[in-house]
Amino acid sequence: MTRLKFQRPKGTVDILPEDQIYWEKIRETIKRVAHYYNFNRIDTPILEATELFIKSVGISSDIVEKEMFTFKTKGGDRLTLRPEGTASVARAYIENGMKNRRHPLRFYYIGPMFRHENPQHNRLREFHQFGFEVIGSPEPIIDAQIIQLSFTIFKELSLKNLVVHINSIGCRECRPEYIKLLKNYLAPQIRKLPAQYRKKIQTNPLRIFDIKDEKCQKIAHEAPQIVDSLCDQCRHNFEKLLEFLDFLDIPYFFNPFLVRGLDYYNGAVYEILPQGKEYQTKEALGGGGRYDYLIESLGGKEMAATGVAFGIERIISYMKEVHSLPAKPHHQEKIFLAHLGTFGEKRALKLMEELRKEKFIVKEAFSKPSLKAQKKVAEKEGARLMILVAQKEALENNVILRDLRTGAQEVVGIKDIARKIRNLLRQKTK
Ligand code: HAM
Repeated sequence: MTRLKFQRPKGTVDILPEDQIYWEKIRETIKRVAHYYNFNRIDTPILEATELFIKSVGISSDIVEKEMFTFKTKGGDRLTLRPEGTASVARAYIENGMKNRRHPLRFYYIGPMFRHENPQHNRLREFHQFGFEVIGSPEPIIDAQIIQLSFTIFKELSLKNLVVHINSIGCRECRPEYIKLLKNYLAPQIRKLPAQYRKKIQTNPLRIFDIKDEKCQKIAHEAPQIVDSLCDQCRHNFEKLLEFLDFLDIPYFFNPFLVRGLDYYNGAVYEILPQGKEYQTKEALGGGGRYDYLIESLGGKEMAATGVAFGIERIISYMKEVHSLPAKPHHQEKIFLAHLGTFGEKRALKLMEELRKEKFIVKEAFSKPSLKAQKKVAEKEGARLMILVAQKEALENNVILRDLRTGAQEVVGIKDIARKIRNLLRQKTK
């Protein structure tokens, strides 16, 4: 009989307990910084109507062209596992009538996203993003603030040496002029391009800038640059944003070829990546920009908006690369709770909860009756103190408190144990 072997689906990962320390640290940091900057959490469904992404991310984007996990429900609806979060936030904004709230509205989210990509290092089919979106302000100071808070998060994660690759891709007024120029430039070359890209480029000529193919890249590098076609308003907004970044000492690199692979953008767009890495979208920890027309295009009122999203797996991989392991809270050393005898066992069970209320980090090996085996676990855990709830002492409402580094021990009344432990731990940190 052949044994069935189950494997996780291609491009997905198990997040094992040893990695949770990174996830916890990142989640905690995002929440703290988001709260400070007045961003409110929003959670949208993981499934959305396929049409939402076609209309927003765009028909010529890689995501819509080939990366969506789409299926038909029994009722005949076409649904897609969300490949990104911005379209869903815009949909939720319109659907929940948020236009009547006081603007700008600031949202953040954390959650899984799905793209049917060729799995490789830093590219997964199920990955996690956190994102920040501000709806209701066209001001470049808001873009600057979003970049600033992103850098704050990186600083808190001990990640340095990041750079913002930035560009402006113009607005409704100036982009059509530029697209004409670009089309004219591309027209005589279109036959030189590999056949599979021709349709994409004809649908949206800006895509020439994101195609990885060498021939396309060569042609893209000699193309007219969008920055030379910006209208006064776009130029002014872009310059202002760069001034803010200068003032905040945020390193940036003006990258005239950066257009971002999603169709809903206008104005300032950017990606944030470790310095020294060659610019490639797959190296980016995150990216974002303005999407002032998205809400209108999805059926809402015209409403300026901007945002950014980061890939959590990529951030963790960078944290590991630069050995940025989240530090354990130093004031919280581990205490091991050992037990001996039937009453000792009962009392230890209760004491565990009493110690939790006192906010200690307590480890135990309740499943092991032998004290020797329990001590081994205490050693493995690297516990600093051991509380032994032994039969005789427990009946007298006492425990034995042992310093595992020095071996010194004493009998302590259970009601005094928290105060005693605190004193001992304080002594150590002097
Ligand atoms: P994006 O550039 O497509 O933008 O994705 C943002 C980040 O998600 C990337 O920089 C990367 O870190 C991570 N990411 C994307 N695809 C994968 C993948 N296959 N595997 C691992 N990580 C990945 C957006 O999604 C926009 N919604 C960002 C935005 C928010 N723009 C405005 N607001």
